Amino acid sequence: MKEQIKQIRQVAEEAIAAAQSEQEIEALRIRFLGKKGELTAILKQMGGVSPEERPIIGQLANEVRSYIEEQISTISASLKAQSAAKKLESEKIDVTIPGRATTLGQKHPLNIVLDEIKEIFLGMGFDVAEGPEVELDYYNFEALNIPKDHPARDTQDTFYITENILLRTQTSPVQVRVMEKQKPPIRVISPGRVYRSDAVDATHSPVFHQIEGLVVDKGITMGDLKGTLEDFAKRLYGDDSVFRFRPHHFPFTEPSAEMDTMCFNCQGKGCRLCKGEGWIEILGCGMVHPKVLANCGIDPEEYSGFAFGLGLERIVMRRFGIDDMRLLFENDIRFLNQF
Ligand code: DAH
Repeated sequence: MKEQIKQIRQVAEEAIAAAQSEQEIEALRIRFLGKKGELTAILKQMGGVSPEERPIIGQLANEVRSYIEEQISTISASLKAQSAAKKLESEKIDVTIPGRATTLGQKHPLNIVLDEIKEIFLGMGFDVAEGPEVELDYYNFEALNIPKDHPARDTQDTFYITENILLRTQTSPVQVRVMEKQKPPIRVISPGRVYRSDAVDATHSPVFHQIEGLVVDKGITMGDLKGTLEDFAKRLYGDDSVFRFRPHHFPFTEPSAEMDTMCFNCQGKGCRLCKGEGWIEILGCGMVHPKVLANCGIDPEEYSGFAFGLGLERIVMRRFGIDDMRLLFENDIRFLNQF
């Protein structure tokens, strides 16, 4: 039996010395010292040993047990230290490697010009109002003096959610929403997305942007409209640009007009850019129709106002010389990086 114990000691010693990992060490610990381990198995046979020999064998077994324990703990400590050192080595940071540059985003061309326009009107004391893109037929048409079956609806076909709920075709419904909530004096602009059931091409998109404007107070005249809009347009297009107002028709204004800027390319002579007109339309405007004021609970005998609406894409395209509207919506980084 003594021989068996000594042999266990020798086998264990060699196995432990050869162990390469903490898992192997743990397996050896179980193999030699565990409850079902080799040493324990030997001690269970002590019953067959003579009483004189028992203490001697017991002592030997204990010595071997503590010897193996010691070996295991020494080796496992050194394995732990080795793997910690390896980890440190592999996680070393090389501070001399150049950093990764973060590329900054930038404003979309539509927002560059929109922010300029907002800035101009805020400087004149206007507030910015918002309205829903999913709109009631009432606000988009009816309250703006465009009843069902009015021919003006033909040019503004849109996407219907129900018979009475649609994607707004213009920002003009915000005029009505503002006037319903707010007493004059009113001075607001309202930029936003609008929708029409148009096929996509270089100058059309089923989604585009408008900026609406509305001023209502006592004694507002066409003179205020012209002064305000010319001042705005000069700030946007430059002091030496030339404008004209041309009679037009909108159901929600009376009288109505369109404002043109003289073609900066040909100075009014007519060229490809202005399609031979010499002038380029920039916005629609007019004096708010008395019926519209009344629809919103504002007395047209006491108050008057003017309104205007402009399309953002056309202004942006002209400003940057963009010849295809699709570029503004495709989000091609190579295009957007140029602004
Ligand atoms: N809503 C009109 C359109 O989409 C533009 C417009 C014209 C707005 C005249 C106005 C206005 O406020 O007074 O064609």
